[in-house]
Amino acid sequence: MSIDPQRAIELVRQAPRVAILSGAGMSAESGVPTFRDALTGLWSNFDPKDLATESAFRQNPRRVFSWYLHRLAHVRRVEPHAGYRALVALERQKGATPIVTQNVDGLHRQAGSRNVIELHGSLTSFCCVDRRHPFPLDDVLKLVGVNSEELAPPRCRKCGSWIRPGVVWFGETLPADAITRAWKAVEDADVLLVIGTSAVVYPAADLPLYAKSKGTTVIEINPEPTSFTPFADVFWKATAGAALPEIV
Ligand code: OAD
Repeated sequence: MSIDPQRAIELVRQAPRVAILSGAGMSAESGVPTFRDALTGLWSNFDPKDLATESAFRQNPRRVFSWYLHRLAHVRRVEPHAGYRALVALERQKGATPIVTQNVDGLHRQAGSRNVIELHGSLTSFCCVDRRHPFPLDDVLKLVGVNSEELAPPRCRKCGSWIRPGVVWFGETLPADAITRAWKAVEDADVLLVIGTSAVVYPAADLPLYAKSKGTTVIEINPEPTSFTPFADVFWKATAGAALPEIV
């Protein structure tokens, strides 16, 4: 394993096809909290059992819905940083550069990346809890800023069940289409850049290992080592906002 950033830069520049796997650390420098960083991570301050499972939602729809509404309002106020713009430039240089993201904040798309695969859904999509009927974002946005600590979710216009966020909760399966596209993206890549993920949540955490099993070069960008680091071809100890602009 190399820890030389120059090696990472060369490998990306030479590779015809590059794919990206991003996690919460990608958005940290835009002001979106990660999940597991000490002190600031969402799961350091909240218990995922209370906020990120369907049973938690059914038990306390107001609490869970309000928490996601709060996160939605927050990500609508932030901007993609220079690292995001670098990935857009990389796509321009290389052609299709698929970005498989575990993030639900929509910042890759907002920056202008076109080939984004959202493994864990999106904060901007909503559906009903019983039948998954889609619910318009605009109708949810009307509730943002309503002065209430815990807001009742709207009801589905078709079946009357509560409206829930269109994100993947613990115990739920990932969208089949996203899985197929993500694994294909990694299969087709010469280099996989793994950015800002602790690589502990499966099946996303399988992707870098799958890439290695296929002989794909894997470069990890993270200010801290992870359980995947020993398997990386290059570990670039840096933040996304510092490292990615250097590549392009
Ligand atoms: P984590 O919070 O587990 O990990 C964030 C990673 O980002 C850590 O390894 C940090 O060291 C790193 N990091 C922090 N700041 C960074 C920066 N500026 N640049 C680059 N890296 C930085 O987040 P994820 O791995 O994305 O799932 O978590 C995976 C899933 O767990 C999430 O998608 C979410 C969560 O439960 C669901 O909600 C389904």
